[in-house]
Amino acid sequence: MPLHVPRIVALGGTTRPDSSTERALRHALDAAAATGAQVAMLAGDDLVLPMYAPHDSARTPAALRLVDELRRADGVIIASPGYHGSLSGLVKNALDYAEDLRTDARPYLSGRAVGCIANAAGWQAAVATLGALRDIVHALRGWPTPLGVCIGGTDPAFAPDGSCIDPRTDEQLRTLALEVAGFAHRMRGQAPCRPDAIRAAA
Ligand SMILES: Cc1cc2nc3c(=O)[nH]c(=O)nc-3n(C[C@H](O)[C@H](O)[C@H](O)COP(=O)(O)O)c2cc1C
Repeated sequence: MPLHVPRIVALGGTTRPDSSTERALRHALDAAAATGAQVAMLAGDDLVLPMYAPHDSARTPAALRLVDELRRADGVIIASPGYHGSLSGLVKNALDYAEDLRTDARPYLSGRAVGCIANAAGWQAAVATLGALRDIVHALRGWPTPLGVCIGGTDPAFAPDGSCIDPRTDEQLRTLALEVAGFAHRMRGQAPCRPDAIRAAA
């Protein structure tokens, strides 16, 4: 029987294409892909959705895609900027669409590891945002990874070409990706991915 290849979905960023939050998300997703997982990215305009309305079942194509990707996901990575001390409305609204998974065999994000990344100008907002993201993942019945990643401070973590130039951020994002992907591989009864595959990823 063919092996099921775990699918890791990344969700987050801002409406600004290639924002530093999106770069952090992509860096972690690339590390997840290096374990052999399939990956999908929902960022920027993918998350510009109508305000979630539980009483209205009409869904835009982008909203249907988001819900379908979360439904198929074996692991999730979320990245939000810190806006006024918490996650952005863009990311929160996207996560509210997980309500459409409530009657699934795997409701909401149950059975899935979720890595959370918070990116803010200051550490206070980054830490508060990370805590808020992890609380939301708990509410959605997901498994927040042991490591969550805060990115903050005045020194940029990413170069203009998108490469990660801060070794601490690089190592933490790779570790988070390994935790998400490793959980997904194990939940599928497969050999866990190899840490050296993560470290070898560019
Ligand atoms: C509306 C808004 C509110 C923000 N509030 C905070 C805040 O409370 N604390 C903080 O450290 N940074 C704050 N920031 C800065 C963002 O966290 C920072 O720009 C972002 O994480 C990095 O930006 P990028 O992903 O757009 O590149 C805010 C930015 C915006 C646009």
